[in-house]
Amino acid sequence: MTSNGGSARLLVRDLAQLVTPAGRGAPLRGADLGRVDVVEDAFLLCDDGVVARTGRMRELDRVEGDTVEIDGRGLCAIPGLVDCHTHACFAGDRVDEFALRASGASYEELHAHGGGIMSTVRATRAASEEELLDIVGRHREWMLRAGTTTFEGKSGYGLDLDTELASLRAVRAAGGVATWLGAHAVPPEFDDADSYLDFALADVLPHAAEVAEAADVFVERGAFDVMEARRYLEACRGAGLALRLHGDQFTEQGAVELAVDLGARSIDHLEATGENGVRSLAASDVTGVLLPASALFLGRPMPPARALVDGGAAVALATDFNPGSAFCESLPLVCSLAATQLELSPAEALGACTVNAAHVLGRADRVGRLEPGYAADVVLLDAPDWRYLAYHLGADVVAGTIVRGVAGELR
Ligand code: NIG
Ligand code: FE
Repeated sequence: MTSNGGSARLLVRDLAQLVTPAGRGAPLRGADLGRVDVVEDAFLLCDDGVVARTGRMRELDRVEGDTVEIDGRGLCAIPGLVDCHTHACFAGDRVDEFALRASGASYEELHAHGGGIMSTVRATRAASEEELLDIVGRHREWMLRAGTTTFEGKSGYGLDLDTELASLRAVRAAGGVATWLGAHAVPPEFDDADSYLDFALADVLPHAAEVAEAADVFVERGAFDVMEARRYLEACRGAGLALRLHGDQFTEQGAVELAVDLGARSIDHLEATGENGVRSLAASDVTGVLLPASALFLGRPMPPARALVDGGAAVALATDFNPGSAFCESLPLVCSLAATQLELSPAEALGACTVNAAHVLGRADRVGRLEPGYAADVVLLDAPDWRYLAYHLGADVVAGTIVRGVAGELR
């Protein structure tokens, strides 16, 4: 496949299957999450960056004018994947820590001894803005190769004015949706969470709110408690940001109740969420973002995905791509984990990292579906059946992507 950079129209013909979530609206819940429309022997026509038509090959009329054609034989088209939770802006790595964890050290111990998040904060503060731009651009390429055509990226490894803003700008420059994770950890130059928040809310928030679309906080022992999180989130909401939380990753601290009370967009992780948390999330408009690659990477329990979906909660899937708890940018792998570890069907997994993830990012009206009027963001799977997305564990299942109607190289 060659790039159609110059042409406004793109036709993918003879696809084995074209698949899109079937349920209407967003977020998809309950049985609606598991419904997909599958068209066999299909075509996809994109015009000016949006989907113009889809259907069966026999319904395809002659396409007039300057159109780039892609031979879709042996391929399946699904919507471009949406990664609604990444920490894509970080410098350095934590491979030494990874090796220590492999021989028994715990993530929480490393964190408590100044490793973990703070070691990435030191590396990220030492990087120039230009370096951060390069890094996020490289991470964006990794994500794209894995089929992610829309990504969110958090700050949170700066925790000072300059690095936080440079991180948010780097995410935006790479085409990502920026989230200010201003309350990720308390940096060592502050005595306690409250004095750090005094600074962050007075000095960083007014600028962060001009670049970011949402704010996020890590609610956990050793990070921020619910009182501190409430203070941070209420100020961020006042500045016009959507609200997100890292909650119930290791322990239940009341993050679900806080998320529901504040009308947050999402609460993410939920590995430690019990029955009451499942019930209150299910009765709310807050989306539970499940991060099974993070649970796997840290050897933690998986979140109660089946109970959430069966209870009627809105759930999304994301990678949590970051250097410490999930060095993984692959949503196809996350879909495999969803099917093998979370008891979600391939169809539920697809809906969770397309429509529902787009909903978390406030974009469900324009990305996440292969339907006329939606962004022509497409993953072409190298597979005879689209469910290979989850089935082909750890494989290079993405043959190529189309972003806003422009096709990349097919491998
Ligand atoms: O989502 N839990 C907090 N933040 C990240 C991990 C960050 C890190 O380890 O660098 C997470 O898992
Ligand atoms: Fe995270």
